[in-house]
Amino acid sequence: MPDKYTRSPRHRSSSPRSPHGKSPNFMQNTKRQWYNQRYFILGVNIVCTLFVNLIYILVIRRSHKQEPVATAQKIDDSPHLHSAIHIPYLDLRPEPDRFSNFRCVGDMNDKLKLEARSCVFNNICYDTRANTFNYYQSKPSIILFDKNVGPIRTFASGRFLALNRKLFGLEAWAPTIRITPAPKEEEVTRLKNVHVLYKHSAREFSFGHIVFEDFGNIFNSFYRLGTKMKNSVIMHKYVVPEDERFQNFEKEYRPAITSNPIVSLKPYMNSFGKRYVCFDQLQVSSPPVPFDPIATVTNQGKEDMFYQFRNAILKYHNIDPEYVPTKHKIIITDKKRSNFRKGRKRVIANLDELHLFLKSNYPDIDIEVIAWDEKTVKEQLLLTMDCTIMITPCGGVSFNLPFLPHNAHAIVMDYFSGDQPEEWRGVMANQSASMEGGYWNHFWHFKTMYYQVFDKSDWEWDFEGATNTRQDASIVIKMERIKDLIDTALEQME
Ligand SMILES: *[C@@H]1O[C@H](CO)[C@@H](O)[C@H](O)[C@H]1NC(C)=O
Repeated sequence: MPDKYTRSPRHRSSSPRSPHGKSPNFMQNTKRQWYNQRYFILGVNIVCTLFVNLIYILVIRRSHKQEPVATAQKIDDSPHLHSAIHIPYLDLRPEPDRFSNFRCVGDMNDKLKLEARSCVFNNICYDTRANTFNYYQSKPSIILFDKNVGPIRTFASGRFLALNRKLFGLEAWAPTIRITPAPKEEEVTRLKNVHVLYKHSAREFSFGHIVFEDFGNIFNSFYRLGTKMKNSVIMHKYVVPEDERFQNFEKEYRPAITSNPIVSLKPYMNSFGKRYVCFDQLQVSSPPVPFDPIATVTNQGKEDMFYQFRNAILKYHNIDPEYVPTKHKIIITDKKRSNFRKGRKRVIANLDELHLFLKSNYPDIDIEVIAWDEKTVKEQLLLTMDCTIMITPCGGVSFNLPFLPHNAHAIVMDYFSGDQPEEWRGVMANQSASMEGGYWNHFWHFKTMYYQVFDKSDWEWDFEGATNTRQDASIVIKMERIKDLIDTALEQME
C-alpha cells in the first residue's frame, strides 16, 4: 500500500487505473509494459522530429536562401496574358479570336494624361502598306473613363500614349481602331514574344538619358505590366540612331533587358514579307520624369527595379553584383569633355587642388582621378565596383553611380538655382539644387551625399558672359566642407 503514496505525483496523475479490478500483479506488469511503450513512442517521436528538421534544413532552407538571387528571374516567370481569364460569352461574333484587347497601368481617368500610362495591346497588327498599328473591334467599345466627359470609345483621339516626354518634344501615339476582324492567320506573320515600341528620348545621346531613362523605363515597364522580358524585341519607331555613343549603349547596356538587338520598325516589319505582322503582345510605356527633384515622388516604390536594372547590367558583364571591396578607394571624376559643347561645362573647377588635398589628408587611401570616356564600359564597371567614395559633378557623367558596391558613398555636386527657378522640375529660386537627386535618393545600396552650394564663391562661370547657373557653371570645392562629407562617409562605412 505505501508505494501508492511514494509514487511521484507526475506518474500518479497519468497512471492507468484498473477498470475491471485486476490483480496487483497484473497491474504491475501492465504498468511496466505501458512505461516501455511510452519510452518507445517518445523515442520514435525524437527520431521523427530530428528527421523532419533535417529535411527542413536540407530542402526548405536551401530554397529560401535562393530567393534573393532569383529576383531577376521572377520577371521572366511573371504572369502574362496567356494565363488570364478567357471565357467565351459575348462571342456570337464570327471568328472571336480575331479581335484585339489591351490593358494599362496608369491614369485611365483623364484622356489628356498620356504621359502617365503604360499599356500592352494583344492581337494588334501592323499594316506594312498603311504603316499603322491596327486595333480590331467588332464595335466601338469603352476604352477610357474621362472624369470630365465620361466614357471614351477612342484611344484618346490618337493621343493615348507618349513615346517621349514633353521636354524632348512630346510624341503622342495610339493604335488605329478598325471595326473589323483581324486579317486571317494565313495572311499574317504572328510574333509571340513581347515587342516594345520605343523612340529614343533626348536629342543628345547622353549616358543618363539613353541608358537610365530610356532603357531603364523599358526594363521597369516589364515589372509594371507583368510581361515577359526574356526574348523581347525593342522596336525603334523610326531608325535606330547610328551615333557611336548610342550604338555603344545599345551594345553594352541593352542586353540587360533582352539578347535581341534594337531594330528599326519599318525594315523589321517588311522583313517578314507579308502585308500584316500581328503581335501577341505590343508594349508601349510612356516615359516618366526620372531624375529631377520632383521625381522623388514618382520614383517611390521603384527602388527594386532600379537595383535590378543595375544588377542585370553587371551580370551581363560577368560582374558579381554583390561584390564589395575590402579597402577604401576614392575616385574623383574628371569631366574632360561634354556632349553639349567644346569648352568646359559643369565640372569641378578646382579638381587639381582637391586631388592634392585628399592625397595629403588621406595618405592611406587610394585616390584616383578618372575621365570615364577614356575607359571601356567593362573598365568603368570594374573601377566603380572597387570604389568606396565617388566624387563627381552632376549630370550625365555621374551615371556610373548605380554600379557602386553596397554601402559605398557618392558625393555629387549641386548647382545654385538663383533667380532661375524651374518649378516643373521641383526647383525653386535660391536653392541648392540636386540635379538628379530625385533619382539617386531611390537607390538603397549606396548613399548619396550632396555637395551643396548657396554662395557666389561656390561656383565659377564656364565662359565669359554666362548667366545660367544650372547649365554654365562649375563648382569650386571648399576643402574643409568636402572633408566634412568624406569623414562622414568614412564613419558610415566603418
Ligand atoms: C534670391 O536671392 C536674391 C539675393 O539674395 C534676392 O534678391 C531674391 O529676392 C531672392 N529670390 C527669391 C525668390 O527668394
